[in-house]
Amino acid sequence: MSHSDLTAPQIDELESDATPHAPEFAFDPSDPWTQTFQRALEKADLAGKRVYEVGIGTGANAAFLLRLCGAARVSGSDLDPRMADLAERNVQSLAPEQAHLFHPVHGAVSLIDTPEAQEEIAQTDAVIGCLPQVACPGDPRFDAFRKLHRTELGEGADVREDDHIAHYYPWTEFEEFPFNAVGLGLNEALLRRLRARAPKADVILNFGARVGVPVLFDMFEANGYTPEKLQGQIVRQHAGTDISFFVALEKALGGTGLDHDFRCAFYRDPAGAEPISASEAQQMLDADREAAIYHEVCTIRGRPV
Ligand SMILES: C[S@@+](CC[C@H](N)C(=O)[O-])C[C@H]1O[C@@H](n2cnc3c(N)ncnc32)[C@H](O)[C@@H]1O
Repeated sequence: MSHSDLTAPQIDELESDATPHAPEFAFDPSDPWTQTFQRALEKADLAGKRVYEVGIGTGANAAFLLRLCGAARVSGSDLDPRMADLAERNVQSLAPEQAHLFHPVHGAVSLIDTPEAQEEIAQTDAVIGCLPQVACPGDPRFDAFRKLHRTELGEGADVREDDHIAHYYPWTEFEEFPFNAVGLGLNEALLRRLRARAPKADVILNFGARVGVPVLFDMFEANGYTPEKLQGQIVRQHAGTDISFFVALEKALGGTGLDHDFRCAFYRDPAGAEPISASEAQQMLDADREAAIYHEVCTIRGRPV
């Protein structure tokens, strides 16, 4: 049964007992990022489809796809080798009747870079993912970029939290991809690999749209996909993710003539009515580490052209 066949109280009841086990090292799926993503997955007509999640995390989306979207088969993998086991346990407890339809790829898998992942991907109708879009503090190229643009890391950003790889990616490793310049190298690398390995699959990706939705659309189009926004929501900037990357980016583009086209999309308010730049957002955080700043999270579906 899909969500669309249920009444609102039935949906609330189903979702209230759909809380996965989420240890400190995993991305917390009660976060509004995951809510946005799951609202989009409901709209994506995935009933009867084979779906692969790159960066499977706790398996919350896998259970959701099987239990509420009617997916025929769900697979997935993660760079953190603990995630496939965790996801398997969570799918077993959250979607016991459909758990036999879940086939995670075990081990550490970056993007889809193992033979097992590629074999699954070749039989997949849709690939989903919510991958990091912020350069890792301490990355050598990012260090040099910040120094060049006189930008300090935010307070505490050099402390490596347990869920570090859920929020940051190694910027230097993805420099061959043009959209790496705005923090989208990992996502663009995935699009390129999917064009080669699963050329007919739809790709549904969840983003923090801090570089603006038009840039995200540009990345899909530049890589052979027609983009469509399925869902969007203004959320509070995650307190554990440093935004100095976006500050340095604004400084890098300032004065080039591109600064009118490019300005990061943060907000002072939860309605998203008062835009502020990344530099203004960082000033607010420098004055008060608990300051509330916001940005959009949105889910985009790319259909192969
Ligand atoms: C923001 S979390 C999202 C987790 C889950 N998809 C969700 O929506 O709740 C990002 C996930 O991507 C994984 N990840 C980070 N870099 C990756 C890479 N290069 N390849 C595969 N997974 C990666 C992280 O370990 C983490 O589980």
